[in-house]
Amino acid sequence: MKSILDLPDVRIKDKKILVRVDFNVPWQNGKIADDLRIRKTLPLIRHLIKKDAKIILISHLENGEGISSFAGVAKYLKTKYIPRLRFIADVAGKDTLRHIDRMRGGDVLLLDNLRKDRREKNNDRKFSKKLAELADIYVNEAFSVSHREHASVVGVPQFLPSYAGPLFLEEVRRLRQALAAPRPFVLVLGGKKLSTKMGLLSKLFSRADKVLIGGAMANVFLKARGFEVGRSYVEAGVSPDKKILGSVKLFLPVDAVVLRGNKKCTVTIENLSFTDAMYDIGPKTIGLFKREMRDSRFILWNGPFGVTEKGFVDGSREMARALARASAETIVGGGDTISVLRRYKLLNKYSFVSTGGGAMLDFLAQGTLPGIEALRSKDRK
Ligand code: 3PG
Repeated sequence: MKSILDLPDVRIKDKKILVRVDFNVPWQNGKIADDLRIRKTLPLIRHLIKKDAKIILISHLENGEGISSFAGVAKYLKTKYIPRLRFIADVAGKDTLRHIDRMRGGDVLLLDNLRKDRREKNNDRKFSKKLAELADIYVNEAFSVSHREHASVVGVPQFLPSYAGPLFLEEVRRLRQALAAPRPFVLVLGGKKLSTKMGLLSKLFSRADKVLIGGAMANVFLKARGFEVGRSYVEAGVSPDKKILGSVKLFLPVDAVVLRGNKKCTVTIENLSFTDAMYDIGPKTIGLFKREMRDSRFILWNGPFGVTEKGFVDGSREMARALARASAETIVGGGDTISVLRRYKLLNKYSFVSTGGGAMLDFLAQGTLPGIEALRSKDRK
């Protein structure tokens, strides 16, 4: 993939550059809860401002709070990071065209939520062409949405000279390390759904020296090993690979935090009763996982270990702290995991924090993404 940073200044100055970013940031009570994805795109935006490009930012926004316009993000960006930013409440319509016509070198426009137009998700060719017609050059700086075959990710590169941004390339470079990780390599997985991590687990299980699994996804394994898991969440219709289930490399929780009445109790896995529900890993499991990580040279972690949104955060916090102290190379990713790191001010304590959730998992499972292939096939032409 070609890097936009390698393009000579004369080919950037006064050019309209369509930059696909991922400003799909988490919101809480009407405020941006975490701006990591925004901050990580600033180096590219500032570079292009300095080179007098006309920058047109495009992104999707789809979150649980029902906020679908970029007006709030634009206000935040303008006040905090990019005073020259202007928001257009339009995607590729007349308003956008009028504003683009008036742009000068160094100006930055943020267009409205791409998903307001359903042709974005449908990867509609005409919509891709319309977006491409807004600019001279396309840059993908949105690794975290590059697992989607959407118009702004895979469609636009068919119509414009296309490049990867520095964050995009850094994500690919760092995550590729996990595919050829130095050993001992420990894979640490949490989260609720095993089904979303099955591909990653199958791909990396043979490469990893140890695989530590916590969170509700571990319950599928515990149940398959014959433990009583009571009322704990067990994903339906998913059965673990027999080889993985029986492997000595696999480490599962040995105790858990449950609620008995309103009281939090720690119970060993073999003593769980049929009325218990596991909400977090217990102290013995934390100790076991820490020991198993101790001599590793590379640790990859995705997914929390407890129901963090209900306050069961001890297991994830202790694991986050242990990884932060590890001398191994540490790569961490996933939206819920990042929320834990932010909460305990640990975000800068790892070798690399990926902005990708689903994109990180898909990349690690498949070794590539539709967004990468779209930029690559451009190179082959
Ligand atoms: C994400 O939050 O993982 C990316 O922004 C992709 O969003 P999506 O899952 O809604 O496509």
